[in-house]
Amino acid sequence: MNTAKEAISMENATALMNGVRHWHHRFEIMPGLVTPGSYDPQNLWNKLRIDSDITGQRVLDIGASDGFFTLRIAELGGDVTAVDFRSKDGHGFGVMERITGRSFAYEHANIFDLDTERLGRFNTVLFLGVLYHLPDMMRAFHKLRAVCSGTLLLETHCDTTLRQDVAIARYYKGDSLAGDLTNFWSPNRLCVVDMLSDAGFDVVRDEVWDDRMFAEARVSDNPKGKHKMGVAYGRIQSKIVTG
Ligand SMILES: C[S@@+](CC[C@H](N)C(=O)[O-])C[C@H]1O[C@@H](n2cnc3c(N)ncnc32)[C@H](O)[C@@H]1O
Repeated sequence: MNTAKEAISMENATALMNGVRHWHHRFEIMPGLVTPGSYDPQNLWNKLRIDSDITGQRVLDIGASDGFFTLRIAELGGDVTAVDFRSKDGHGFGVMERITGRSFAYEHANIFDLDTERLGRFNTVLFLGVLYHLPDMMRAFHKLRAVCSGTLLLETHCDTTLRQDVAIARYYKGDSLAGDLTNFWSPNRLCVVDMLSDAGFDVVRDEVWDDRMFAEARVSDNPKGKHKMGVAYGRIQSKIVTG
């Protein structure tokens, strides 16, 4: 449920906003009040091309952080569920709800523990700025395929310094990527496209800039990929004999 309630005063909103230790998203949380975030997500929002009424569509926002994308989706009528392994008040999400007067479905969960049966299927899954934080990228894509019935919108750190004609991901030890201990991998473009293919997604649009990549992908029926993932994550007994 994400219905708007009564308006909050600028004074109360400012006090709430200033009580958040760190804002990631910099955005106008109410007219005239901009969060002191370290990252302006507007350019990425434009790349998603979600610009019309999406009433009735189910959207899953994985790694929602302070909720900029969750809020934009709700403003366009989407039925959005946010997921993050930080609690609502572990970042600005809870305050975003209080200031905007909205209340969102929120899964306080690690992506690897998502209860895909209970959550059901979503028309669109946002997976923005999360992939490189995950030790097991294929397992994450397997989870995403289980909850996505339509479109996956992905954004990630990517490596443009590696060979681009072979699917490669660079592993980052410790905090060697941007001094952040939560970073693990930086795949090149082809690696993202190929991993998505095996996981059951076809990339229909993509863009690489600096060390980032955006991709729009549609669910596909890839029997080989389905078998490969099923064997890897335990739902299918492999008939392949090795050795
Ligand atoms: C770099 S921020 C991206 C925020 C937002 N999606 C964006 O693109 O601006 C990564 C977010 O993913 C969350 N996150 C990282 N690893 C996660 C995991 N394994 N399960 C759930 N959330 C995770 C973090 O808490 C954080 O809010």
